[in-house]
Amino acid sequence: MKGIEDVKISFGKADLSDFAQCSVVTDEHIARLYHVSGDNVYLLPRGEQAKTLENVAALCKWFAERKLSPCDKVVALGGGSVGDTVGFACAIFKRGIQLLHVPTTLVAMVDSSIGGKTAVNFCNVKNMLGTYYFGDVIIDTNFLETLDAEQLNNGMGEILKYRMLDRETDNACRRGESLRELTARCAEYKTEVCRRDPYCQTERNKLNFGHTLGHAMELSLNVAHGVAVANGIYYETELAARLGLCDRSYAETWKEEVRKRFPVYPLTEKMLGLTLQDKKNLGGACGENVGFVLPTGFTLRSIPFSQLTALCD
Ligand code: GLY
Repeated sequence: MKGIEDVKISFGKADLSDFAQCSVVTDEHIARLYHVSGDNVYLLPRGEQAKTLENVAALCKWFAERKLSPCDKVVALGGGSVGDTVGFACAIFKRGIQLLHVPTTLVAMVDSSIGGKTAVNFCNVKNMLGTYYFGDVIIDTNFLETLDAEQLNNGMGEILKYRMLDRETDNACRRGESLRELTARCAEYKTEVCRRDPYCQTERNKLNFGHTLGHAMELSLNVAHGVAVANGIYYETELAARLGLCDRSYAETWKEEVRKRFPVYPLTEKMLGLTLQDKKNLGGACGENVGFVLPTGFTLRSIPFSQLTALCD
């Protein structure tokens, strides 16, 4: 099995004809858009619906029918849902089969294809089942050309997170660096963080900023991941200000950045309830604390659930 130090992350043209000898997994939309077809192609449902154990089992069955062995390569061509699902199947099939991510969405390029997290949703919890499984990545920003405004905006939710984590990324965004340059910058930033802390023991936790409330909102409202993360950033920054962990002016500046680009949805008690199942919670089975990465040092901290309900007002 590859360690993160063995992973190759390259930027450049992903020539789909090069994958004729590989098993390619994508979704119907991508297959149509890029004319991907043939016996070596498997189609998952589009979007979050792909991320089920049933789909992983069906995909593994296809691997078995194709008599794949651990040295055969599987290409995950698509957005985050394709990458997460295929990554999980590759991790468990014969205890690991070679994986190449070719992300086609902005979210996948700057976040989900990098760092080896694989997952499916389970028991109405996002990413409850998963592994770390590192594959190579080719980031071809030409795919950005085919994304619509909604898909691009979705990626901007993750880019907003990087802007808050990294002053250089924020400066680059403010001086109008191109989306391609910003994408490469964010992907490189995430790669460096993951190389230092591949298994999310310390520093990598900061990449989960906005994700505790973001995931709860994504599940409840069925909104796109990046939009939910932007909302997560909004409410988690507000939470930090209320807890006296960051200045009110800092919080208002970044909340305004969210409002400029994204709809802000009301946070409900039902959404908050979902945070009790978050993977970052450290309180054990009976815990009533929720794990948050808040914009003050961006380290993981436990916040009593009772302190969250005021955010719903
Ligand atoms: N999306 C957060 C991480 O990969 O660690």
